[in-house]
Amino acid sequence: MSNNVSKPIVITSIIVLFIGSSIGCIWMMSIFGIEIPRLLSKIIINHPPLQMNGFLTLLIMGIGYMIVPRFRNIPIPSLTLAHISFFFVTASLVLQLALPYITTYENGTTFRSVLMILRMSGLVIFAVLIFSTLRVKPKLLRLSDYFIALAVATLLSVNAVELIHPSASVFSLDNGSVNRNATADSLTSLELWLLFPVVTIYGIEYKTLPSFLGFIRPNKTVGIASLILAFSSMALGVISLFIPDSVLLSLIFNILLLISSLTFASSVHVFGGFDKTEILRLIQGEKKARYEFITLHIKVSFVFLFIGISMALFFNVEAILHQQYHFILYDMAIHIIAIGFIGTTITLYFPLMLPPIIKKTINFVDFNNIPIILIGVSLCLRGLGDFMLNPNSLFSFSYLQESIWSPLLIAVRYSLGLSGWLVVGAMFVFVGMLHKSMNKAPSLYENE
Ligand code: HEM
Repeated sequence: MSNNVSKPIVITSIIVLFIGSSIGCIWMMSIFGIEIPRLLSKIIINHPPLQMNGFLTLLIMGIGYMIVPRFRNIPIPSLTLAHISFFFVTASLVLQLALPYITTYENGTTFRSVLMILRMSGLVIFAVLIFSTLRVKPKLLRLSDYFIALAVATLLSVNAVELIHPSASVFSLDNGSVNRNATADSLTSLELWLLFPVVTIYGIEYKTLPSFLGFIRPNKTVGIASLILAFSSMALGVISLFIPDSVLLSLIFNILLLISSLTFASSVHVFGGFDKTEILRLIQGEKKARYEFITLHIKVSFVFLFIGISMALFFNVEAILHQQYHFILYDMAIHIIAIGFIGTTITLYFPLMLPPIIKKTINFVDFNNIPIILIGVSLCLRGLGDFMLNPNSLFSFSYLQESIWSPLLIAVRYSLGLSGWLVVGAMFVFVGMLHKSMNKAPSLYENE
């Protein structure tokens, strides 16, 4: 039961990811004082919209159109509407990127309204198609649908909040330079953005992960608890965006989110809790390689998620206790969830979901762990870099300047500034690995 709408959406999202991440790397270089051409410094503001409105939105739309009908073995209610939603969302992204160059004082509001109408129309069509597919009851594991419905509701909410309450928007330009203020509101708003793919991942994993891990069922009671917590945290997060300086609400939002992620991991047995000796005894060769790949990646991804949410939580604690907004916690929370959790999950699920789309099988024997190692190293270096950029920290660049041999300091600055490229490197290694493993495998789908 394949449809021809998911493929172009997923491919577009991956292209946008490569562009958005490369722009992020250029941004990072400029923050660490590495000189970049003037033209490039103007495009760095495009990194957040490319990643959130482009990559994340399109990826989940593509996967949603593929997986939700597939779970119940029915087609999408309207392929034409699905294509229109793809067109609207992509057009709104292109318009958003072009805004700084085409708007004047007179036409700015018109262009912004067109952008929001295009985006909201695309997202509403997506939501209607997914909700009407969800109305057909699946044979098993209905709870998965509620996670997906919550994710779609979150996507609509964050976009609607941006529409009616633009001050919650996180990306802005002040006198030509990028606004990088770390506030509780902007962190919550970004986390809500990230909650949309995170909860979609929950929906997919609730349905598939326990059977991948040991032909078992998820724990329904713990799963329901996780869903209720995710819903409560999302509702609280949206409310907090309407209340200025609501750091306490943001803190509770993060506490609920953390407990929700812990309970979810437990409900789908991410860290074990079932007997797998029989499985390990029976599998070997390609099946064993696949099993080990799944178990390692799923654990690593959830460790990233717990660390990312904890950083956001500490960010709020520090804001409440010491009225200090630590940029390191803000930046690391966003990027550990986005690159660490979402990135590692994509690395895990892409090879599992791709075969029916591309009609080829994938051989896991050719897989390696280089992409997640590169992601981990890049995030550690990013954390170190954020730490050294803080003028108040013991090892800040400004403090070390006087005590350390300057060529060494320059080398450190360059290494940290260039460390973002390790993630882009991980993406290339991953694509190469997928390609290599596909070519060798015999196709099960040739006659479909
Ligand atoms: C190669 C990978 C990436 C690199 C090198 C990178 C780099 C950066 C840099 C340098 C900033 C500027 C502010 C800061 O230091 O936090 C930033 C901000 C941001 N990044 Fe990334 N990024 C990457 C991947 C991602 C991904 C995958 C996402 C989401 C899917 C993302 C979302 C964001 C957002 C939303 C902001 C704006 C935060 C704010 O409001 O200040 N980034 N990124």
